[in-house]
Amino acid sequence: MFNKMRKTKEKDVPVTKEEVLRHPMPNHVAIIMDGNGRWAKKRALPRAAGHYEGMQVVRKITRFANELGIQILSLYAFSTENWKRPKSEVDYLMKLPEQFLTTFLPELVAENVKVQVIGHAEALPDHTRRAVEKAVKETSGNTGLVLNFALNYGSRAEITAAVKQIAKDVERGMLAPEDITEPLISSYLMTSGLADPDLLIRTSGEIRLSNFMLWQLAYTELWFTDVLWPDFTEQHFLEAIAAYQRRDRRFGGVSAR
Ligand code: FPP
Repeated sequence: MFNKMRKTKEKDVPVTKEEVLRHPMPNHVAIIMDGNGRWAKKRALPRAAGHYEGMQVVRKITRFANELGIQILSLYAFSTENWKRPKSEVDYLMKLPEQFLTTFLPELVAENVKVQVIGHAEALPDHTRRAVEKAVKETSGNTGLVLNFALNYGSRAEITAAVKQIAKDVERGMLAPEDITEPLISSYLMTSGLADPDLLIRTSGEIRLSNFMLWQLAYTELWFTDVLWPDFTEQHFLEAIAAYQRRDRRFGGVSAR
């Protein structure tokens, strides 16, 4: 009798795009794309091969995010700490935005994607900066997905620069200390004008933020996976969104459910 009443174990059915589309989408998804090096090492390939494969996944996930109607996709492509890597790897990583934006610019334009960049662009090599500027300019009128690359980005550096600028504006009499509110601070950050991320994905099993959008992630839902970035698929992306849709976002308040 007791046994008969027990529920049979539900099978793990992969979540579908249609299912995910029935629920509210995250407006802004941010991704820390990690694990390119380990992906390459597992295959006895140079680290650059992992980054190259990672770039193909950027293309795939950008198209998919756009298809799902997500409004902003922020990708951590190069941090202010990544300069510590061997010069050959840094040189290769600096070629990737150029390669990506040159190869796929017609596609991004056709798909109505708007490219934006956060980070200290002035320290990028000229060829990288020019490619980024061209893509930003040529997609500036697009109204679909905002593809926001974090390049030479570090959150503490961003906050430090914002604090400095606020102090200067107070000194010049343009701002009073009482004007310094949370929205005002947000408006001095590199993400000014972009809503905060609703969902952060980090691949490769590392459970940390690595100096990415520390202010902006205050109420973001975090989703971590062991999958290495070059192995990340549309299905993994759907799983992350489905997990987000199951969460009860209270923003410090009480549940509305
Ligand atoms: C982290 O993996 C990844 C990076 C530092 C670079 C991310 C760049 C890409 C995914 C490609 C960029 C594409 C464009 C379009 C700009 P890791 O090297 O730290 O991997 P590991 O932790 O396994 O060594």
